[in-house]
Amino acid sequence: MPVKDYSALAQFYSHLMKSIDYKKWANYIFEISRELKREEVSVLELAAGNANVSAHLAKKFSYILISDRSVEMLRQCQDLANSKVCFDMTEIPLKKKFDFAFSTFDSVNYLLTKEKFIKMLSEVHRVLNDDGIFTFDVSLEKNSLRYQKYLNRKGKYLGIKYRQQSKFDPKKRMHFNYFEITFADGSTVEEIHKQKIYEFEEYFRFIDESGFYVRKCVETFSWKDANRNSERAQFILKKK
Ligand SMILES: C[S@@+](CC[C@H](N)C(=O)[O-])C[C@H]1O[C@@H](n2cnc3c(N)ncnc32)[C@H](O)[C@@H]1O
Repeated sequence: MPVKDYSALAQFYSHLMKSIDYKKWANYIFEISRELKREEVSVLELAAGNANVSAHLAKKFSYILISDRSVEMLRQCQDLANSKVCFDMTEIPLKKKFDFAFSTFDSVNYLLTKEKFIKMLSEVHRVLNDDGIFTFDVSLEKNSLRYQKYLNRKGKYLGIKYRQQSKFDPKKRMHFNYFEITFADGSTVEEIHKQKIYEFEEYFRFIDESGFYVRKCVETFSWKDANRNSERAQFILKKK
């Protein structure tokens, strides 16, 4: 059955993320940007969802452009100082260049093929200034194994009932999140969120094929080097 109320659906997804400490996440992203050593920094956020991270960064940067491929998620954004644009991060329809680009919460794991991943890197490369920084986090196998235990849940929010099932397929290296959502009028939708859980080393190979190099790769929220047993790795890239 078609979804009747996308805005309720987007609010529902933001409810699911309510336990996330976005202030902490924003501070971490800000710390990464400080390497630019500049007063005025123009920022592009990719796959921003409803911009929970940028909401905490709006006062810290001179310009932030928020983007996501879902117009419904963008509609839920709090009013920020700058603009928002709906686009897919593998096809960035912009000419403007930025000093700093970032993406959070394993959004790049939604890029299901190597080709898509490298296309995303090349698009970000095109819109980044020569001395710019691009940072994103990735979810690794250990994170998938952990969350498939915890993200099996059901509940109710704004009259919407939901059931979530989280499953990692180690052979396909795919993580599936199944949602069954029942609206107040009894209509139901099923959504499957698919994420590719690439091997840690694969990211380095993808980046080698792009115009970037890995300046640092640390465990997200820390400055400790990441490895294949980390749950979440933070890539910090510069242009070659
Ligand atoms: C897990 S949510 C994270 C949202 C936000 N970054 C956060 O930290 O709350 C993943 C987001 O990625 C977006 N997304 C997935 N694939 C995308 C793509 N190819 N281009 C742009 N956005 C994408 C989805 O629409 C969704 O808003």
